[in-house]
Amino acid sequence: MTQVAVVETVRDLRRAVAGWHAAGERVALVPTMGALHEGHIALVKLAQQHARRVVVSIFVNPTQFAPHEDFKKYPRTFDTDRSLLEAAQADAIFFPSVEEMYPAGFASRVLLLGPAAVGLDDRFRPTHFEGVATICCKLFTQSRADCAVFGEKDYQQLKVVTRMGADLDLGIEIIPAPTHREPDGLAMSSRNRYLSPEERALAPLLHRVMQNLAMRIRNEDPLFQAVGQAQSEIITAGFELDYLEARHAETLAPVTGLADGPIRLLVAARLGGTRLIDNISV
Ligand code: PAF
Repeated sequence: MTQVAVVETVRDLRRAVAGWHAAGERVALVPTMGALHEGHIALVKLAQQHARRVVVSIFVNPTQFAPHEDFKKYPRTFDTDRSLLEAAQADAIFFPSVEEMYPAGFASRVLLLGPAAVGLDDRFRPTHFEGVATICCKLFTQSRADCAVFGEKDYQQLKVVTRMGADLDLGIEIIPAPTHREPDGLAMSSRNRYLSPEERALAPLLHRVMQNLAMRIRNEDPLFQAVGQAQSEIITAGFELDYLEARHAETLAPVTGLADGPIRLLVAARLGGTRLIDNISV
């Protein structure tokens, strides 16, 4: 198996990508924070369908974590990640230090409106998307990739990054990838490893409740009532619910029923110290 190249500086990343571009090869970026699982590998496989070369970035981005969140304990598993990416035949890993990404004096942020200000994750993590957008903007311009793959699991993030790429003319195509699920329906996430066995057994309920809710909405049950009942089911099962909402699939604006356009159901709920998010289309 050929070893995947690991580049740690923007200069080396640009040199690698420039070489591929000079050879006429399209380059895809898969931004990650590491702790890779099958869902991430599916992103790499999708990227390979869109580009000859695939760069996977691994960077646990401090600016998207609030002070009380899990930045310090976020799993860092570089050796395993590298083996998985080697097996997946990724071309390079961009593995910068915090100093490379945020050098002394760094003082800029991307200011977001639209899908970043709709009262979903932004209500519970007010500085999160600013940090995500800032790092993604940097990764896009650092790598000069032609396209980037983002999982639908972080649906609001996908919409925020897509909007930013278009609004700021970043010249990168954002490719959405379907959510990868465990056999019992739980959306794959690096944070699932925080769950105790009891919490892990309960976690797939979120997906079941959303599937049932989607069916009720398709059957034209009154939306407000159906959403309320689904919320109660999640709370009664023992989750602390941040939100479960039906939103317009593109704008993320609130909807009152099928007549308002394509609907996406989005949920965020906590089990013990672990925050789980998920979403499905109706
Ligand atoms: O989805 C993630 O893992 C992160 O938010 C991302 C896109 C890599 C930015 O740090």
